[in-house]
Amino acid sequence: MKSDMDQVDAVIKRRLASNVALIDQIGRYIIEAGGKRIRPRLVLLFSSALGFEGPERHELAATVEFIHTATLLHDDVVDESALRRGRETANAMFGNAASVLVGDFVYSRAFQMMVSLNRMRVLEVLADATNVIAEGEVLQLMNMHDPDLAVDDYLRVIRFKTAKLFEASARLGAILAEASPEIEEACADYGRCLGTAFQLIDDVLDYEGATTELGKNVGDDLREGKTTLPLLLAMSRGTDSERSMIRHAIEHGEVARLEEIVGIVRRTGAIEATRESARTETEKARQCLDILPASDAREALLELCFRSVDRSK
Ligand code: IPE
Ligand code: IPE
Ligand code: MG
Ligand code: MG
Repeated sequence: MKSDMDQVDAVIKRRLASNVALIDQIGRYIIEAGGKRIRPRLVLLFSSALGFEGPERHELAATVEFIHTATLLHDDVVDESALRRGRETANAMFGNAASVLVGDFVYSRAFQMMVSLNRMRVLEVLADATNVIAEGEVLQLMNMHDPDLAVDDYLRVIRFKTAKLFEASARLGAILAEASPEIEEACADYGRCLGTAFQLIDDVLDYEGATTELGKNVGDDLREGKTTLPLLLAMSRGTDSERSMIRHAIEHGEVARLEEIVGIVRRTGAIEATRESARTETEKARQCLDILPASDAREALLELCFRSVDRSK
């Protein structure tokens, strides 16, 4: 996908430009740090698997990466995170106000880009996705420091905050290719399942990943009192004293005992069980691809399922 992704990067650079120096500076700072660019890949792979090769696909791929980038700028402020893509976060470097405002710029630039495509369905899908992501982040805020969070409520948050944009990206590939409603839904289902798996693994890596590889600080979720599946499973499987230690850490965002808690999460098999849930999601995702004709793009989408679970960054 090298040449396609280079074209997406060219669109990103061109569209990010602003005469306002601070916007240009922060925009470049976060975009040039890289990132895996998974969501734009979904747009490209689905449109190509369905036979669409028009130039709009690069514009749309860049648009979803902009929406993703805007959510990261805002998310790092809300999460008070200090490291992103191996660099100090924009909020640590330039302050919260600048991050929020430049996040707004990047969001609204994404909307200008989608309007330029002049397709009502594209607007509808991305307006809905952006709205649901915001709901997910607010739901998560409401769930903070709650050790009694139900697994279903946790899953709802990750479907909203993360899986929705994966779903939209996959669906947009199908929309560009003017696929049938049945095919479009299968693509969207793939995106939703892959995105769910992707966030489950993100939540695992926050406990057992390596900061240097992830480019993010491990332990951020516990520090913020975020009740994720590894913790929920560790609480249901651990001893009374282990359970009460985790409850206390969630309630107080106590990161001092991170190592002990990581030990409990590992010992109870909560890491492996969360990975297993992610595998189940990617299994569903893979089945959604049955409807697509054989192609290199379809192979790449299958491969993405494995890589999303067995990853270290
Ligand atoms: C980070 O997404 C936020 C989550 C939804 C977990 P990515 O892991 O795709 O971030 P980059 O773009 O590769 O940095
Ligand atoms: C994903 O959640 C954030 C969004 C989808 C906006 P996280 O808060 O877990 O993402 P990271 O770990 O900071 O990348
Ligand atoms: Mg975060
Ligand atoms: Mg995370």
